[in-house]
Amino acid sequence: MSSRVCVIGLQWGDEGKGKVVDWLAAHADFVARFQGGNNAGHTTVVAGKKRVLHLVPSGILHSRTHCLIGPGVVLDCDELAAETERLVRSGVQMAGRLTVSTQCALIMPHHIALDKAREAGAARLGTTKRGVGPAHESKVARRAVRLGDVLAGKHAALVERDVAVANLELAELNEPAFDAPDLSRQVFASATKVAKHAGDVADLLAQAAGRGATILVEGSQGALLDIDQGTYPHVTAASCLAAAAAPGLGIDLRPDVLGVTKAYTTRVGGGAFPTETGGKEEKHMRTLGAEFGSTTGRNRRIGWLDIPALRHALLVNGCNRMAVTKLDVLSGLAEVRLCVAYLRNGERCERLVPDSRMLSDCEPVYENHPGWSGDLLCGSLPAAAEAYLARIEKLTGAAVDVISVGPERDANIVRRHPLLRAA
Ligand code: IMP
Repeated sequence: MSSRVCVIGLQWGDEGKGKVVDWLAAHADFVARFQGGNNAGHTTVVAGKKRVLHLVPSGILHSRTHCLIGPGVVLDCDELAAETERLVRSGVQMAGRLTVSTQCALIMPHHIALDKAREAGAARLGTTKRGVGPAHESKVARRAVRLGDVLAGKHAALVERDVAVANLELAELNEPAFDAPDLSRQVFASATKVAKHAGDVADLLAQAAGRGATILVEGSQGALLDIDQGTYPHVTAASCLAAAAAPGLGIDLRPDVLGVTKAYTTRVGGGAFPTETGGKEEKHMRTLGAEFGSTTGRNRRIGWLDIPALRHALLVNGCNRMAVTKLDVLSGLAEVRLCVAYLRNGERCERLVPDSRMLSDCEPVYENHPGWSGDLLCGSLPAAAEAYLARIEKLTGAAVDVISVGPERDANIVRRHPLLRAA
C-alpha cells in the first residue's frame, strides 16, 4: 500500500472516479487534479445529498483535506468562482483549503465561442463545449494566458495575440469577433475572483511529499479519451493517463495507480463504441444507473464491458488494480455480456487499436454470463456477480480491489483498501 494513489479512468470518462476519490479522501491530506478542466463532472453523494464537481477536486467534502488544482488543468476562472460559491452556500468550508496553480492556462471566452461554433458545424466531435480543446490549442501554440500572467497584470498583450488568431476562425464561422481590450478587462475581472486561491501547487506538493503526507491524485475523463492513447480523433485535448500527473502537478509522486471502470461501459459524444447496446438492457442501465451526462445532461451511450479496451487502458496506465463501479446497476438482468475480443475484417483480434476509425470496423465477440438480482448491499455478492468479477480479473490480469454497489460514499465492498494497511 502506498500513501500516494492516483485514481484514473479506464474508459471514456464517467466511471465514478468522483465517488471513489471522495470515499478515499477520508484518509487523505491532499487531493490534486492534474489535467482536464470543467469538462469533467465528478458526482458525489453523501447522506443523500448529491453534488457534482467540475473543477474542485473531489476531496473538498472532507474538512481536513487540502485540494489542489495543478498546472496541467485548463482553468475557467468564472466557473471555478461559481463552483466555490455553490460549495460555500451548501455549507462547505473553503477558506485555506483550495490552491490553484498560477501556471494554469486559462480558458477564455473566445475559446468557448470557438468550441461552440465548431460544434454547430458538420465536423462536430460532441465536445462538452466548455472551451477545453481551443484552450489547449492556445497552450500548445505557446500563446496561452496563464493565471499568473493575469494576476501580475501582464496579460493585455498576451490576450490580444491569442484572440487575434481566434477571431480569424470565428470570422470564417460567421461568428462575431472579440474586442481585445474588452476581453482583457473581462479576463482580469474573472481571474481576480479566484486570486485568493492562487499559489504554487508543485511546491506545496513537494513539501507534503517530504513530510510523508497522504496524497490522492484525481484523474478526469479516461484512458479512451486520452489525446494519444484514446479513440482519436474522438478524444479530449489532454492526456488523461496516470503518467501525465507528473507534468500536470510539477512533481513526480510515483503513486500507486487505481483504475476505475464501470461494470459496463458508457460514453458521451461521437466516436466508435463496439459494445454499444440497445433495447431493454440499455433502458435498464440508463434508468438504474442514471446515465445522463453530469456536465451536459446528454444521454450517455451505453454498452457492455469491453475487455480489449480495458486491457489497453490498464496497459497505458501501468495499472493492475481496479475499482469496479455500478455493479448494482446490472442487478436484475437475466444475462450479462462481456466483449472478450473483436472481429475485424473477419479476423479475431484481442487488442484495441487507439483509433476511432479502425475501432468502428470492429465487431464485438461476446461471452454470455448468467445475471443476478437483488440489492447488492455491502455484504456478500451473489455467486453470479462474483463469477462475473472473477472473469474480468482473469481476462485483464488486474485485481478488483473495490466494488461500488451504490452512489452513496460508503456503498462499497472493499477487498483491499488502496490506502489503509490491513489490520
Ligand atoms: P472536450 O473535452 O469538451 O473537448 O470533449 C471531447 C470529448 O471528450 C467528447 O466526446 C466529450 O463528451 C468527452 N468528455 C470530456 N470530458 C468528459 C468527462 O468528464 N466525461 C465523459 N466524457 C467527457
